[in-house]
Amino acid sequence: MNPLVKNQIASPVSPIAEDVAQGLSRSPKCLSPRLFYDAAGSDLFEQITELSEYYLTRTERAIFVAHAGEILQRAGDGLTLIELGAGTANKTKVIIGTLLKRQMSATFYPIDVSMSALEIAQEDLRRDFPALRVKPLVGDYSAGLMQLSGTPGRKLVLYIGSSIGNFEPDEAGALLGNIRKSLAPGDALLLGTDMVKDEAVLHAAYNDSQGVTAKFNLNILVRINRELGAEFDLSQFRHKAIWNPERSRMEMHLESVIAQNVDIADLGMNVYFQEDETIHTENSYKFTPEMVEQVLKEGGFELEQTWTDERKWFGVHLARVRTA
Ligand code: AVI
Repeated sequence: MNPLVKNQIASPVSPIAEDVAQGLSRSPKCLSPRLFYDAAGSDLFEQITELSEYYLTRTERAIFVAHAGEILQRAGDGLTLIELGAGTANKTKVIIGTLLKRQMSATFYPIDVSMSALEIAQEDLRRDFPALRVKPLVGDYSAGLMQLSGTPGRKLVLYIGSSIGNFEPDEAGALLGNIRKSLAPGDALLLGTDMVKDEAVLHAAYNDSQGVTAKFNLNILVRINRELGAEFDLSQFRHKAIWNPERSRMEMHLESVIAQNVDIADLGMNVYFQEDETIHTENSYKFTPEMVEQVLKEGGFELEQTWTDERKWFGVHLARVRTA
């Protein structure tokens, strides 16, 4: 056990073999976006967040900078912060800094599957905020939240970065419902969602000029080659990101350049791809205010207030556990 991270949650066996076997046996073929986030993929995602075309991270951060005081005032006094998928908790620093101006001290529980990201978060936050108690939890959200359900005081759960947008609408409602189960009346959720906007802006964000998003998408094949002994030839697949207006989502695919067969040794599989056939790797839902209300309602939360940027490109929503 890593000495820095005291409250580890036992992690389940890696689901990659099963995920890959199932996804590539389907028609149309798909792979879970969970597979993006090995060490290289997490690093590529960090690079994406700094791209000029990828407005999401910096827009949400600007909303925090402008409104953190108001957000925290609305959330209530004596807050304990919990962040789901915290990573290195970089964006959260704005919220934490503001919280520590309102409270003498506070406890922050960052939850993430990546121990290395949490170690960075812990070191950084302890240096920047000596009055903050940082208690990282390695594992998935539900296990981490369950562990915290008996913690006294008012909780504010941060689920930011539009991570909710990578789930299907019914899964997103169920996920919020799971979060709510670990919370008590009066506790709150701060949810970040990317909003519907001009298609050209969305297209550029997922087809950046430096090709970082393409590399991020193709990294799934690199990972399957390494972890499952597969023989994907990266030059024979191309990144494709398209706007699906009926489903209100950006879709990422990997498109086979030619008709080809690919061996996946550890799965005993040989997968045939037609020319132009795609593997669907990710959906990134873009929300309307109605969609936000709906998903919160399905999860058992009541929307209290939304903060947005001038262009209304991103939304930060404070929601309260519904009591009745
Ligand atoms: C993590 N998630 C919110 C990102 C998104 O925009 O859906 C992942 C991503 N995919 C391509 N670029 C970034």
